Amino acid sequence: MRKRRKSLALIGFMGSGKSTVGNILARRLGMRFVDLDEVVSRKAGMSVSEIFQREGEEGFRERESRALRENLQERDTVLACGGGIVLRPENVSLLRERCTVIYLQARRETILRRVGGGEGRPLLGVGDVAERVEELMSRREEAYQRAAHLVVATDGRTPEEVAEEIERICLQS
Ligand code: S3P
Repeated sequence: MRKRRKSLALIGFMGSGKSTVGNILARRLGMRFVDLDEVVSRKAGMSVSEIFQREGEEGFRERESRALRENLQERDTVLACGGGIVLRPENVSLLRERCTVIYLQARRETILRRVGGGEGRPLLGVGDVAERVEELMSRREEAYQRAAHLVVATDGRTPEEVAEEIERICLQS
């Protein structure tokens, strides 16, 4: 039987391509794909926006940390995390211990193009989207860098190209 591999976790700002790249990567590597936002939403029986509305950001973060703990039991998984996963130190410790953590980095302009008007993303629904992105990105950049084992730039590249680079790096190590 094939040796089970350490899981990969994709982190980064909203719109950095974690879910799209994660899906492609999992297929290429023959690993299971888990989208943490989807898990949280399915378990709650509500969309992420509804959870924020009813339980506030804190309620969402509780659910997110629980889903992370539950989904890091198995190896051979590509995990796409929500953009705020790095806000709780316990999430970061767990991710670094169990996974190779990959930060999908993108410039502000790239993110703005990808998130559009911020639909379905409650943290971008307050005030001007560009200002919110700017504020949250600068507040989080250091946390993404510190959490990551590996940083991959995504600007001007397709999700396939990004997945290919990650695959190449993973096969070398
Ligand atoms: C969040 C990012 C979202 C989702 C929630 C909060 C954040 O996930 O978890 O809206 O705090 O950055 P994506 O990064 O997949 O959009």
